[in-house]
Amino acid sequence: MPRLSQWYIRSAFIYLFLGFTIGALLLANKGIPLHPALWGWLPIHIEFLLIGWLLQLILGMAFWILPRFWQAPRRGRVTGAYAAFILLNAGILMSMGARLFTGSGWWLVLGRLFELAAVLAFAHAIWSRIVSRDG
Ligand code: HEM
Repeated sequence: MPRLSQWYIRSAFIYLFLGFTIGALLLANKGIPLHPALWGWLPIHIEFLLIGWLLQLILGMAFWILPRFWQAPRRGRVTGAYAAFILLNAGILMSMGARLFTGSGWWLVLGRLFELAAVLAFAHAIWSRIVSRDG
């Protein structure tokens, strides 16, 4: 498995752990009120699990298993896939920071733009590897 896929998948598991922990706290908070501010973590629960866990796991696996070229560079334009990893995680952290610390909609917009840029960079990097073995 390429090193970049390892980074994607390890990060995905960190978000899975954090997202489930927040989910469990949200659930517990419904039965036993723990803290009034806890409900504000719902968007972070969603962000961590849908983007941090699911999307990141998918991208990491795709980079690993999609068909490779016979000659180097065997995984094609890898720079975009590396950039996507940084952009995606920066975007998630910005969105989280916007909800928790700043209350500013601009950080949230910036975070979303980073995430969008990550998807575009990854798609550009992987596009030429979406081929059929049957021709
Ligand atoms: C991959 C796994 C998961 C994903 C993608 C996910 C996603 C979501 C989403 C999208 C919502 C918002 C639903 C809505 O507003 O209608 C939500 C709410 C919630 N999730 Fe999760 N979740 C996951 C796992 C979990 C787990 C494991 C727990 C608890 C241990 C949990 C606890 C909650 C709670 C308490 C809410 C609030 C429900 C409410 O509106 O009353 N989630 N989750």
